[in-house]
Amino acid sequence: MSNPSDASDDGACSNLSDNPTFGDVLRAAISRRRFMGFAGGVMSLSAFASLTACAASRTAPAPVGLGFASVPPSSADTLVVPPGYRAQVFYRWGDPIGSTAGVPEFRADASNSAAEQALQAGMHHDAIEYFPLPLGARSAGRGLLAINHEYTDDGLLSPDGMKTWSAEKVAKSQAAHGVSVIEVELAGSEWRVVRPSRYARRITAATPIALSGPAAGSPWLRTSADPSGREALGTINNCAGGRTPWGTYLTCEENFNGYFAGEAKLAPELGRYGIRNAGWGYRWHEFDRRFDLAREPNEPNRFGWVVEIDPYDAQSQPVKRTALGRVKHESATVTLAADGRVVIYTGDDERFEYIYKFVSRDRYDASARAKNRDLLDHGTLYVARFNPDGTGEWIALVQGTNGLTAPNGFPDQATVCVFTRRAGDLVGATKMDRPEWIAVEPTTKAVYCTLTNNANRGKDGQAGVDPANPRAANVYGHVIRWREAAGDSAATRFDWDLFVLAGDKQHPDPAKRGNVKGDDFGCPDGLQFDARGVLWIQTDAATSAMRGEDWTRLGNNQMLAADVATGEIRRFLTGPRNCEITGIAFTPDGRTLFVNIQHPGESPSERSDPANPQQFSSWPDNRADGRPRSATLAIRREDGGVIGA
Ligand code: FEO
Ligand code: CA
Ligand code: CA
Repeated sequence: MSNPSDASDDGACSNLSDNPTFGDVLRAAISRRRFMGFAGGVMSLSAFASLTACAASRTAPAPVGLGFASVPPSSADTLVVPPGYRAQVFYRWGDPIGSTAGVPEFRADASNSAAEQALQAGMHHDAIEYFPLPLGARSAGRGLLAINHEYTDDGLLSPDGMKTWSAEKVAKSQAAHGVSVIEVELAGSEWRVVRPSRYARRITAATPIALSGPAAGSPWLRTSADPSGREALGTINNCAGGRTPWGTYLTCEENFNGYFAGEAKLAPELGRYGIRNAGWGYRWHEFDRRFDLAREPNEPNRFGWVVEIDPYDAQSQPVKRTALGRVKHESATVTLAADGRVVIYTGDDERFEYIYKFVSRDRYDASARAKNRDLLDHGTLYVARFNPDGTGEWIALVQGTNGLTAPNGFPDQATVCVFTRRAGDLVGATKMDRPEWIAVEPTTKAVYCTLTNNANRGKDGQAGVDPANPRAANVYGHVIRWREAAGDSAATRFDWDLFVLAGDKQHPDPAKRGNVKGDDFGCPDGLQFDARGVLWIQTDAATSAMRGEDWTRLGNNQMLAADVATGEIRRFLTGPRNCEITGIAFTPDGRTLFVNIQHPGESPSERSDPANPQQFSSWPDNRADGRPRSATLAIRREDGGVIGA
């Protein structure tokens, strides 16, 4: 998402903790030969090179090879894929999901009602996952797609945008949030949405969702509409996600804070999550009391969770799994520990926030799906500390340990789960440059995480550089990686290094040139390995930040592929103007790649002028009376081969 946490003009920092910063880290770092190049505000590029070389011998699998021709940077309002590939646009904002409840067609002037929007694709597609049909098959020709709709541009959502405001407009905005589940099938070389489908459903900002795990029923989660604290309404700002081995979808609530507003005295707990009286201009609080801070001070505590959805059962109730903590969650990347316990990595995407890991108490049982139903309710949540010497540790966020005690404000595990950021502060987690997606390499189980950017590192008394976040004014971001002790994902210690520093080799400022071996890029966000072991990287440079010298050569947001054994990175796709590229899902045969194009034509303010909705882009419809629309792509090779090979 591009929003005030991305934009360089918002200097607010929610993390005022005194966790280790430049001075502490520097003192430790200079005693280590490994970081001899680390001095002042930036580590030298030769030091990065030696770090990468050192790590390559520890973490890299065999080279896989990238079998496509690189595409050049683009600033055109079009989508580009390599020669021999074809990208089909097939599920745009407003396209009907094909529910048995109705199939309302999209109207180009955005005059669909809220009720119709609730049966259509939401706005601003983000994460996507593919679930083969039937359950348990490895079908590459028929399946379900679960797709996040992160947020809305209300300037586009109605014919006159936000010029007038009403309960109906709030309802439509809420209906354009959440998740789509659609049934899709391959007919020849084209994908289509199956309509009607008994699987098709929309989950919106008004869908009843259970709260489970340690915080369920906590006083912190009780509201006037739900005195039990056990059933929330809706999910919002669903950014990245994940997929469990038992065939459920995990959707992550990211910048939930922006929807709340109102004239209330704000408790410090709210400030730590970026809640402000003014909100971010969604204006939901004017017609829905849940979002009015003065009337429902606990409602924000019911967001910021990882939500589990069963796409195979349209009647099933989604569940907010509180054991995974409450932060601005990015991905929820699932892998299995050596003993079969479930491990989930998740980042908290804001400047100076932390990386987390959840390890389930019980083991995954592949023989009986129902036995895994509540696996994510019991386990241990950890937060990462990246030591300056290239080692790291997972610190347990368990009440009664590591200072998480009643005198320190944590009387029970529910409080740890609801105020996870404060728990991370207390135990001394490492402040990162906006952790976004996390990917696990399939053969070595090495873990990669995008740190998308942090223009404020080193600025105005905020945390300075450290070896894991080595650049001040980090406008381009980097990718960090680690390998758990003994290769066991449940381990509590790890070794880490930096996979790549994004940048522009031709930048006049040497500190911004990065160390990309291949095609340059900035602001890595989406990240996923395919079955061959290629690491796919998607970028999300904020429209508001893409100006001036830093962005003249990198062009529109893009998708790249990396061979992690050789370090080569090659550009695979460039998007239309002012979009973000996000969401990665492959069919089991690796021959279809689903990708989302989010907010084509976004204005720097992130709210379009309804009188000029195509000011920056007319993608994908390119019709005179149209509007830009987020959309899902199905990318295939013209010869039907494996993507990227
Ligand atoms: Fe919604 Fe952190 O990207
Ligand atoms: Ca982002
Ligand atoms: Ca993201």
